[in-house]
Amino acid sequence: MKKYDFDYMKKVIFAQQSKEEMKFIWDLLEEIKPKKILEIGTGCGALTAMLSAHGPATEVVSVDIRPNKEQNWQRLIETKKFTKEDINIKFIAGDSHDPEIVEKVKGEYGLVLIDADHSSKGGHQDWTNYGELSSVVLIHDICGYKTVDPLEDWWPRLFWQSTIFNNNYQKTSEIADTEDTPTGGWGAIYR
Ligand SMILES: C[S@@+](CC[C@H](N)C(=O)[O-])C[C@H]1O[C@@H](n2cnc3c(N)ncnc32)[C@H](O)[C@@H]1O
Repeated sequence: MKKYDFDYMKKVIFAQQSKEEMKFIWDLLEEIKPKKILEIGTGCGALTAMLSAHGPATEVVSVDIRPNKEQNWQRLIETKKFTKEDINIKFIAGDSHDPEIVEKVKGEYGLVLIDADHSSKGGHQDWTNYGELSSVVLIHDICGYKTVDPLEDWWPRLFWQSTIFNNNYQKTSEIADTEDTPTGGWGAIYR
């Protein structure tokens, strides 16, 4: 791995990901080398910064309903481990379900990540609106899809269970959250 230091990142800004989950994504970035990435659900922005830092020309568009997310990766720039050129992020504040936001981010992406509204209705809406924008899509919080009642109002688990069951994508891969939390875990779909 090049300049990316997961332990350091976790110290500087709180990442809502285990180290293994971040590595899973880094390996996927190495494999598909996306030039433009869409992230639905910025959270603390540690992952956003990592996505952007992957390649010198990688552009990240990140949407969150809560404003002021820029400060998180601003802190990374202040550590001098990254430069502004490393961090090419366009943050969009708004509800991902709002048709205006859908219109704003419309485009072609090398990778889409969905980790925002986890309810069945909200997650399904995000999948419908943004899942089509890339041939590789990552869904967060799939953990427990084999063991926990998938009918709970938790879209990622139910979605991932039906994805695996129907097996109608070219390829899927997944990682569990090894920090032993009831959620977490990424599922990747390749069309
Ligand atoms: C679990 S966090 C994302 C964590 C992030 N992927 C990370 O690794 O740090 C979920 C985020 O989705 C945002 N969110 C929830 N519902 C949303 C919506 N309808 N539109 C946009 N963002 C939403 C929340 O504000 C929250 O920051």
